[in-house]
Amino acid sequence: MSLDQARFVRACGLSELEEDTPKRVELDGTPVSVVHTEGEVYAIHDICSHANVSLSEGEVEDCQIECWLHGSSFDLRTGKPSGLPATRPVPVYPVKIEGGDVLVDVHASLSQES
Ligand code: FES
Repeated sequence: MSLDQARFVRACGLSELEEDTPKRVELDGTPVSVVHTEGEVYAIHDICSHANVSLSEGEVEDCQIECWLHGSSFDLRTGKPSGLPATRPVPVYPVKIEGGDVLVDVHASLSQES
C-alpha cells in the first residue's frame, strides 16, 4: 500500500447515502459532508467559507450544495461558490469507492483558489 492510499479513511458505507442528501462525518478531526448525487460521490468540507455553518444541512441540486444560512452554493467538484455572499472556495476532497465503502482523503484538497 502506498502512502497516498494509506491516507484514505472510511467515511461511511455507500448504501448509507441517500441520493442528494448530504451526510456529515468527521474524519481525522475534519468535518466533511459526503454527497451522493448524479451517480457520483463527493466529499466537501462541511463548514461554509462565509461563516461557521454546516453545509450538510443545506440542499443539493445541479452538483452544488447550498448553504442554508445566506444561500451561497458551492460546486461539489471544485468547492467554488457560485454566488455571494461567500467569495472563497470550500475544500473538496478525493473520494474512492471500495467494496461498498466510501473512502475520503481529507489531507488532499482538490480545491483551486482563483
Ligand atoms: S454562512 Fe454560508 S453563505 Fe453565509
